[in-house]
Amino acid sequence: MFPLHRNRRLRTNDAIRSLVRETSLSPNDFMFPMFVAEGKDVKIEIPSMPGIYRRSLDLTVKEVKELWDLGIKAVNIYVKVSDNLKDNTGKEAWNKDGLMQQTIKAIKDAVPGMIVMPDVALDPYSIYGHDGIVENGQILNDATVDALTLMSVSHAEAGADFVAPSDMMDGRVLAIRQALEQSGFHDVGIMSYSAKYASSFYGPFRDALDSAPGFGDKKTYQMDYANRIEAIKEALDDVEEGADIVMVKPGIAYLDIVREIKNTVNVPVAVYQVSGEYAMVKAAAEKGWLDHDKIMMEQLYCIKRAGANIISTYFAKEAAKLMQ
Ligand code: PBG
Repeated sequence: MFPLHRNRRLRTNDAIRSLVRETSLSPNDFMFPMFVAEGKDVKIEIPSMPGIYRRSLDLTVKEVKELWDLGIKAVNIYVKVSDNLKDNTGKEAWNKDGLMQQTIKAIKDAVPGMIVMPDVALDPYSIYGHDGIVENGQILNDATVDALTLMSVSHAEAGADFVAPSDMMDGRVLAIRQALEQSGFHDVGIMSYSAKYASSFYGPFRDALDSAPGFGDKKTYQMDYANRIEAIKEALDDVEEGADIVMVKPGIAYLDIVREIKNTVNVPVAVYQVSGEYAMVKAAAEKGWLDHDKIMMEQLYCIKRAGANIISTYFAKEAAKLMQ
């Protein structure tokens, strides 16, 4: 008698393992999230995100050149604006000379090939730290969508390749698509944060932008992490409204959702491995409890295996260097 299946035959050595490997990973799969601050020659490390910085525009452009040379072809941009520019309308978000608009222009001037995807949501501009306009303690949907269309068009005018709404208001993808078309920006795409969960994994990001909600939480617009079917509906709705790419967020704890959406929609699926996921790996590695590089690569491969076509990750630069 012998085992009917000797599956180990295909694991005998590295050559055969690489021959039968089902998933491949390259820097082309990555987008790098970047935090931009006002000023010049500013580079401040985010305490809860070792190795990740808030940079002024000059240093951001320098970093983008390095990313391009490493084979990274897309960046997600988040800005930290000063408190005196925040209000409840978010109007600084569509200031044509605002920090985001300047950043988009500067990156496209310096590295024209880099795909620039600015974040579309009001939280960095809101006195309440919410992604929408607030009235009597509620987040207004349709008034916020109007603001997001102005914001998106102003990003397109600055030269953005894609806009990336992360706010979870209803109907925003259709409204943004219409506004872009009407303004002549037919080729500016939409990457929608379609299945974005109300997650505690965003803590370090909110430290980076000083954008934690001033009251309540984000559960009236971001999704309940207990839900699955709702995520599929969100993704299908967004594709129907004109999203070119749909995103799932966070990553590692939500890979079942990634696979389901991948099997359901006919557009590329992006996954955001968020700040808290990054922080956990850094902290455990710092304590010597986990092997940093091995865990980083394992997680990136697993996100890809689950169905991600694109991974937005704070590990992009480190992983690209390791793969060189
Ligand atoms: C805000 C936004 C958040 C993230 C991306 N865009 C935070 C939030 O929704 O509160 C989180 C990303 C991360 O944690 O890395 N619109």
